[in-house]
Amino acid sequence: MVSQDNENGPKRLRSRRWFDNPHDPGMTALYLERYMNFGLTRAELQSDKPIIGIAQTGSDLSPCNRHHLDLAHRVRDGIREAGGVPLEFPCHPIQETGKRPTAALDRNLAYLSLVEVLHGYPLDGVVLTAGCDKTTPALLMGAATVNIPSIVLSGGPMLDGWFKGKLAGSGTVVWHARKLYAEGEIGYEEYMEMVSASAPSIGHCNTMGTASSMNALAEALGMSLPGCAAIPAPYRERGQISYETGRRIVQMVHENLRPSDIMTKTAFDNAVVAAAALGASSNCPISMIAIARHMGVDHSLDDWQRLGPEIPLLVDMQPAGRFLGESFHRAGGVPAVMKELLAKGKIDGSALTVTGKSIAENLAATEDGDREVIRAYDAPLKEHAGYIVLSGNIFDTAVMKTSVIDAEFRERFLSNPAHPNVFLGKAVIFEGPEDYHERIENPDLGVDEDSVLIIRNVGPVGYPGSAEVVNMQPPAVLLKRGVNALPTMGDGRQSGTSGSPSILNISPEAAVGGNLALLKNGDRISIDLNARRVDVLISDEELATRRAAYKPPVLDNKTPWEEIYRSMVGQMGTGACLEPATQYINVLETRGES
Ligand code: FES
Ligand code: MG
Repeated sequence: MVSQDNENGPKRLRSRRWFDNPHDPGMTALYLERYMNFGLTRAELQSDKPIIGIAQTGSDLSPCNRHHLDLAHRVRDGIREAGGVPLEFPCHPIQETGKRPTAALDRNLAYLSLVEVLHGYPLDGVVLTAGCDKTTPALLMGAATVNIPSIVLSGGPMLDGWFKGKLAGSGTVVWHARKLYAEGEIGYEEYMEMVSASAPSIGHCNTMGTASSMNALAEALGMSLPGCAAIPAPYRERGQISYETGRRIVQMVHENLRPSDIMTKTAFDNAVVAAAALGASSNCPISMIAIARHMGVDHSLDDWQRLGPEIPLLVDMQPAGRFLGESFHRAGGVPAVMKELLAKGKIDGSALTVTGKSIAENLAATEDGDREVIRAYDAPLKEHAGYIVLSGNIFDTAVMKTSVIDAEFRERFLSNPAHPNVFLGKAVIFEGPEDYHERIENPDLGVDEDSVLIIRNVGPVGYPGSAEVVNMQPPAVLLKRGVNALPTMGDGRQSGTSGSPSILNISPEAAVGGNLALLKNGDRISIDLNARRVDVLISDEELATRRAAYKPPVLDNKTPWEEIYRSMVGQMGTGACLEPATQYINVLETRGES
């Protein structure tokens, strides 16, 4: 909370070490003169005004976040009005749909560079401009490590997409269009039009994909102003909350309110519960664990398994439900969901937020929203909607998003009366997405309703960064027979916009010698959701024989960062962090600067 020296009088701002240090006039002059060369005055830099960074993630390369370039004007207005001095700086771009080989590879790179900026420049606080999938965790991870007063400003989703009178959600429509195309229902032109229709304005994905999920969880953690996550990007309220965010960060500096005061164990527990109610993306456990580790908070997949599965799905939003971002916002957004969870005692309302107040205090004035889009806890869209965490003799951990198991999938694969929730199938293995696309339609593969589609070498080290490819579509012959999904699993991820109940984020991955690497085509695989186990039905001796014959893959690094990343990254089950970086907790305090 408020620091000791704050209670006993105003705290000396960190930026004074640069701009007003009478013990070192030489360095002070040097620091001052260049920051004045674009028009700032000495008075502004030396009059005890908090210097506020605006971590700018928007650029032409990052269309999901690009309008932050405009929103930053309103952030500046707010900072100025509250008596601060804004200094905007660029962040490494992370565009989910633009970066090859994966955007996930760059989450840790953007994190590293943000740490360096927040640590090395005269900043007293920072506004984090979040949006596209990996931008939100990268920013929160950096803020956690440096632990200076920080507030998240979401960019907000695009307006709802429409195509031929039907809602077209970003990402989700791609999976739908891909099926129609494979079945010969639509041609190339209509494919392009259909998908383009899902992106009608500035903003990030309008589905409850990874972007909307992670922004919602940033709010659930207490790191953004209430209501911030869901406001669509073009709405006037988006500009207004940008202004309020700018005003608030200046006060947070005066209060010395830091990420470590907000992102506590309690806050992460709350976020897990919120994730289940939201039907949040399967990328969330990975990044939430990463943020917690950089914050020094004990938070793991065990917490996701402990808290999530009993929570019902409350938000009727694609891919788990029907609606898109505008409806979610109108129905009350994250505060309406949190209010429902608080009323049932599922979250801890005492957790502190960037407002300086607790979640319960923030929610006191929240009205009930539209009950069609955000359901009452007792009348949910689905019971038991959180992630389940699986293990077995193929991997230590994997996650499955149960909120997207639909009636057809349950009926076809999980409803054998002799052993309900258990599926026995034969492995059909692909060595990455290129291999899958090349061979999936090959009749010799013999894919049928008895198959489990398995993809490997697509994890953090394997791909690198880990690819969103596990939600593999069955071959066209099966689609035409009405089999819309098969059980799938792999050491990659899947897009948060996909509605597949895949077994994801397998750790350890094949490329570091996980047992997934030892599977062979035709192996019998048992998926037991009751016991939360996935096993290959071969003997330990056979597994050992295969292990002895195993040769690790040769990793082909295309860039220096790929090599550095691969040498330091951990597995998805523990956040896919740069492991050495997790040793740096609260770096300013260790330098006596906090
Ligand atoms: Fe950027 Fe979905 S691609 S939010
Ligand atoms: Mg994605």
